[in-house]
Amino acid sequence: MSEEVKKFKITIDGQTTEVLPGTSILEAARQIGGKSVPPAMCYYKPLESSGGRCRTCLVEVSKGSDADSRPMPKLVASCRTSVMDGMEVKNLTSEKTQEARKAVTEFLLINHPLDCPICDQAGECHLQDLGYEHGLERTRTEFERRTFEPEDIGPNIKLNMNRCILCARCVLVANQLTENREHGILFRGEHAEISTNLNKALENDFIGNVIDVCPVGALTDRTARFASRVWFTKPMNATCECSKCAGKAVVWMKGEEVIRVTARKDQYDEVQDWICDDCRFHKKDLKYWTIEGPRHIDRHSVISLNHYEKPKNMISLLDNPDAKELSDKDEK
Ligand code: SF4
Ligand code: FES
Repeated sequence: MSEEVKKFKITIDGQTTEVLPGTSILEAARQIGGKSVPPAMCYYKPLESSGGRCRTCLVEVSKGSDADSRPMPKLVASCRTSVMDGMEVKNLTSEKTQEARKAVTEFLLINHPLDCPICDQAGECHLQDLGYEHGLERTRTEFERRTFEPEDIGPNIKLNMNRCILCARCVLVANQLTENREHGILFRGEHAEISTNLNKALENDFIGNVIDVCPVGALTDRTARFASRVWFTKPMNATCECSKCAGKAVVWMKGEEVIRVTARKDQYDEVQDWICDDCRFHKKDLKYWTIEGPRHIDRHSVISLNHYEKPKNMISLLDNPDAKELSDKDEK
């Protein structure tokens, strides 16, 4: 007879849930959902051993557990800290956490170029969202940002190292999904960079998934670059016959044209089904695809707004108590 595993109780911002031992605080927060879920720039559930690098997911543990109720002395990375029974955590309700998140955002932006107007990731960029929610209006630094010589990593994937935040997700994709890894983090500290040794091209099947996991515009699809701003395109769920992957993807259309193909992602922007490079780079035509219907983008982003339905309540949409509800008359 199998023994029932005792679940641990955790309270985050006053909301309680029960999780299996070994669950991280971040995953427990996702189980609760809503705004208490800390942002994550390096953790990526489908990739084993991701997380622990960016510190955007810091939270305050105000009670360690029922057995030891002392608070944890420092903020902890919620993606790498396991839940204890009776733990109490503050995310939105902690001033310290919010301050730290602002500082981490500023830190990530110290070297990141503010080139959103020409970056293909604009509208889908997690750093853009983080900067919008926690960033300062202007930089406080005067020194030059780190810049790198452009490196050619093949015909399909464009690397712009100036934008990289060294989250290492792309390295984990190469390690865990492809047969050979040709790129990695070279050098250390200030000099650390994503690069290929001896200027190799990234050519393994499934390596295109590095584009989907990159939280910023450091790795973009060369076959779709500058084709359209993402918010002018229509994402559609589509399937195809494929011998290498499940053939379940999202095709991003402009009129009748397939501008790009990506994997399907959930509300945390994490890939649900990895797709192969054939589907991603070489099936840019409707003849390959059976369209299932419009893809609803769950993630809070400019691309999920106003595509399918008119927002009914502007107050809740803006989440701002001072916002006035717009009537149809006001909009004309
Ligand atoms: S290139 Fe993108 S995915 Fe790779 S480490 Fe840099 S930010 Fe992360
Ligand atoms: S998401 Fe937890 S440290 Fe990056």
